[in-house]
Amino acid sequence: MALLRTLGRLAQTARADVAAARERDPSALGVGTAQMLASWPGLQAVLAHRVAHALHVSGVPLAPRAIAYAARALTGIEIHHAAQIGEGLFIDHGSGVVVGETATIGDGVTLYQGVTLGGTGFETGKRHPTVQDNVTIGSGAKLLGPIEIGHGAKIGANSVVVRDVPPNSTVVGVPGHPVRIDGRRVEGPDADWIHLPDPVADAMRALAARVAELERQVASLGGVAAPTENVHHLRPVSGRNPAGG
Ligand SMILES: CC(C)(COP(=O)(O)OP(=O)(O)OC[C@H]1O[C@@H](n2cnc3c(N)ncnc32)[C@H](O)[C@@H]1OP(=O)(O)O)[C@@H](O)C(=O)NCCC(=O)NCCS
Repeated sequence: MALLRTLGRLAQTARADVAAARERDPSALGVGTAQMLASWPGLQAVLAHRVAHALHVSGVPLAPRAIAYAARALTGIEIHHAAQIGEGLFIDHGSGVVVGETATIGDGVTLYQGVTLGGTGFETGKRHPTVQDNVTIGSGAKLLGPIEIGHGAKIGANSVVVRDVPPNSTVVGVPGHPVRIDGRRVEGPDADWIHLPDPVADAMRALAARVAELERQVASLGGVAAPTENVHHLRPVSGRNPAGG
């Protein structure tokens, strides 16, 4: 009876996971469920975790770890079998995602490739993040330690987050800082974590100004006209973006 109940719960959760992938992945438009199950690594990893976690909770030894290991080998996504994950987790692309043992993920969460929900060192006990409902975590973001990510938050790609994140906020940068809360720009001193200084560009600009000044002085000494050509500004290459994926 308990087994039937567990299987029923698993089937319901699996349906929610497939629906989440279908809703949040534009490339799933018109793709059948069987094809998604066969070729969406994020979906495969989440479904494998559902089974591994159910076996872990039931006290079955070894099998949960073996399933997590096999899922990692197949998908490149490592989810510890003890991690607690709510309904409708969608992992887009997936490769390189790591979810640690004491991580907790709420409902309706989206993770992109390369996300880490990890610890900061060799702590024991609760040492991984708690991610509340409807959070989106961009590719390559690292969330470290037993921090709380408030519901509806968005974590920018490649951010490193080591402190709690308020609900409905957008956090970017290394270390991550809120740049929007409830859709409003964060105001106040020390609040701009997006437009960071670029010391190399500043140094280049200063050197260019000094060269121009020297050229002007040399030209005035020798009685020749100073070169009118200015130093070329760096511009994006026109045409197709060579970094396009
Ligand atoms: C953070 C993110 C979710 C956008 O959230 P949002 O609440 O809509 O925020 P906005 O787009 O209005 O951006 C807010 C500010 O943060 C900046 N910003 C956005 N993402 C950033 C990032 N990853 N790193 C640094 N700054 C970033 C924006 O330029 C903007 O700056 P502004 O104040 O000068 O306008 C999105 O930019 C992101 O990183 N998504 C991840 C997507 C991803 O990983 N895709 C992989 C697909 S393969």
